Amino acid sequence: MPRPKILYQCQSCGHSAPKWLGKCPDCGEWNSFTEEVRVTKLKSQSAAEPVALPDITPSKGSRFSTGIKELDRTLGGGVVMGSVVLIGGDPGIGKSTLTLQALRGLAELGKVLYVSGEESPEQIKIRADRLNINSTEIILLPETSLEGIMTSVSKVKPKVIIIDSIQTIFSLELPSAPGSVSQIRECSTKLMFLAKKQGIPLFIIGHVTKDGAIAGPKVLEHIVDTVLYFEGDKGNPFRILRAVKNRFGSTNEIGVFEMMESGLQEVANPSQLFLSERPENVPGSVVTVSIEGTRPLLVEIQALVTASSFGVPRRTAIGVDYNRINLLVAVLDKRIGMQLGGMDIYVNVVGGLKIDEPAIDMGIIAAIASSFKNKTINPELFTFGEIGLSGELRAISQPDIRIKEAAKLGFKKGIVPVSNSNSIDNHGIDVIGAKDVEEAIQILFF
Ligand code: TYD
Ligand code: MG
Repeated sequence: MPRPKILYQCQSCGHSAPKWLGKCPDCGEWNSFTEEVRVTKLKSQSAAEPVALPDITPSKGSRFSTGIKELDRTLGGGVVMGSVVLIGGDPGIGKSTLTLQALRGLAELGKVLYVSGEESPEQIKIRADRLNINSTEIILLPETSLEGIMTSVSKVKPKVIIIDSIQTIFSLELPSAPGSVSQIRECSTKLMFLAKKQGIPLFIIGHVTKDGAIAGPKVLEHIVDTVLYFEGDKGNPFRILRAVKNRFGSTNEIGVFEMMESGLQEVANPSQLFLSERPENVPGSVVTVSIEGTRPLLVEIQALVTASSFGVPRRTAIGVDYNRINLLVAVLDKRIGMQLGGMDIYVNVVGGLKIDEPAIDMGIIAAIASSFKNKTINPELFTFGEIGLSGELRAISQPDIRIKEAAKLGFKKGIVPVSNSNSIDNHGIDVIGAKDVEEAIQILFF
């Protein structure tokens, strides 16, 4: 009898090798290889016909609403028929709650199948009661085998399928454990084929590991059409749904929610929310405007600068890139002569938001300078702009909608890059252009 072919596969990225390896040469993960049985490839029997581009007529109205505006926007304007959406996030962040709430809207299409490998139907019912969801179109399926799910799908003929979560699903054809790379790849590929063939939208929920990757497979991210991350702090009721990949819309679009007793509530005006607890007239706090997807967001940046009691001063960044902070501190040091070498510096974006847009550089600089000088910044002032290594304030994209949003929230004065200030409508705000950090700091504090 031939021996089954064994191969070793990295559980992080799916790289395979004939021998066990301590470190994955592909993704660099340590101790991630496990033994898997090689699956013989089936012969491809492609039945697809080549088509000329002009001969394709896209079906109209192929998007429909989940009934949750923030979710629809993050998806690029609703759910696309036959699309596969991966929702990733830490355990307990609210993925099951979000999808269950989305089912309320989706159930208007017809039967929706909620496959749960984690919770019993009773548990889901208790949650649904809390959320006040009670539709006869929502069919629950406590199943973990792929083959079982396939059978139920052909029986129920649902209009939408939810898999909660992919890490609990396994195919009987593979010997490896649920949650391993081969299982996840096999199951999600088969489910994807099903979704594409029948034009059913498929939502796959996936857990995220400690270091922030969707557990097991990066492979999963390649298979699906849309990847949404659900993030937020455990101690904070705000939740942010972020599109990191979207074949049907813009990425970096976000949806903002608040977790309440009665489930997730949409936050229609996140700027107002993020600024609601802002301390006024305290040094180290400033408001800046970032653009997330298509929407401007006003956020408060806080900094605390204290004399260090250690040999090597601490730099801590929450919600912004750590290296960016070091760079901006170096600019302040060299170009303005602010002696930050012996100082511990903490920077925080309020509300658990993560921002990687350079437009908030000026906000970070202003907050650090304000804390260092122990001088407050006018609470009706906002600032934005990218900072270059020689201290110049560089123009950023879409200044107009940023200023408009600030005007809407009652801000009176803005410090922006000079090249932006020439070209824009100021919406009744006193917009001042600054050419470099030195000039901006002067306007801020004098
Ligand atoms: P859940 O959707 O089970 O998270 P996940 O599927 O991502 O693991 O969310 C669980 C958390 O949400 C739990 O800590 C309780 C909280 N929660 C509320 O605060 N209000 C609610 O109405 C619901 C249903 C959950
Ligand atoms: Mg869950």
